[in-house]
Amino acid sequence: MLSAAKRCFSTTRFNPYKVTVLGAGGGIGQPLSLLLKLNQKVTDLRLYDLKGAPGVAADLSHIPTNSVVKGFAPDNNGLQEALKGTEVVLIPAGVPRKPGMTRDDLFSINASIVRDLAAACAENAPDAAILVISNPVNSTVPIVSQVLKSKGVYNPKKLFGVTTLDVIRASRFISEVAKTNPTQEKVTVIGGHSGITIIPLISQTKHKNMDTAARDALINRIQFGGDEVVKAKNGAGSATLSMAQAGARFANSVLQGLDGESDVIEPAFVDSPLYKSEGIEFFASPVKLGPHGVEKIYSIGELSSEEEELLAKCKETLKKNIEKGVKFVTEA
Ligand code: NAI
Repeated sequence: MLSAAKRCFSTTRFNPYKVTVLGAGGGIGQPLSLLLKLNQKVTDLRLYDLKGAPGVAADLSHIPTNSVVKGFAPDNNGLQEALKGTEVVLIPAGVPRKPGMTRDDLFSINASIVRDLAAACAENAPDAAILVISNPVNSTVPIVSQVLKSKGVYNPKKLFGVTTLDVIRASRFISEVAKTNPTQEKVTVIGGHSGITIIPLISQTKHKNMDTAARDALINRIQFGGDEVVKAKNGAGSATLSMAQAGARFANSVLQGLDGESDVIEPAFVDSPLYKSEGIEFFASPVKLGPHGVEKIYSIGELSSEEEELLAKCKETLKKNIEKGVKFVTEA
């Protein structure tokens, strides 16, 4: 046990990291930037947006944490300056869903936004870990990979589609059904990040013997939980606050890995060997994060027969979503 005096003077040391948020003025970008400002590992926080980032940065800069925060606008090479030498880039830039829209409906607008931001990352921060939040993640991640490949700087270990919102929703929703503490619930979520491509592996939880109807309803709620928020916001966007928490949590895990902490494991949508032989280049499964990004991709373990069926459907859609992203860059 540390004495009270020693506790007072003991400091936890972290390596300093430079982190950039592209789309920092938006619904996700603002609370995400706030949470990153509170992260002790982040000492240099750069915020970029087409509009509003300098204001968000000025606001956050008054919080007395150990980081400098700076906002950038498109003028004066703002994007380039925000990226130069940065180590982690989070991308929540793009339009969110309105009621009745699927994530795939966002492709026509968000694909080119993500493509252009990826090109800027390739040119100004070729070694950075890139965390893609902009939807449709199943297609935007392949877009980023193709852009980085075309620029000769693709590192599959440092590209992540952020699926953490599905993971946190799964913990929350299963706890509501099982009447348990959500902070103690851990559900592995695999596949992709949209509708039927999201597969929570209930059979691998302690609630595997849940009543079939309750389980099916739970799986459906996890897959389509985003729609609840889109509907409740009634045209004003999709999940922003829970997404910010999820994005900050995943960014912290990436930073923990870069910092050499052991056993940092989070599901993420990454360049994965699991189904490459079936033409599926990217897949979400638990990933061990380390000093070079992805250190190990875990296999998905044993599935129930129902989950095998969900996986088959997921793979069909996922393959098309990935091909759509790849073609957007290669056939442009
Ligand atoms: P928002 O519209 O509130 O904010 C988006 C921001 O991106 C705006 O401030 C806009 O100016 C900025 N932006 C647009 N083009 C840009 C560019 N070229 N460079 C820099 N900034 C640019 O939208 P919100 O709610 O923050 O959502 C952002 C994205 O995140 C959407 O695509 C949404 O679908 C996605 N999303 C992803 C989730 C996930 O789990 N991965 C969950 C929820 C939303």
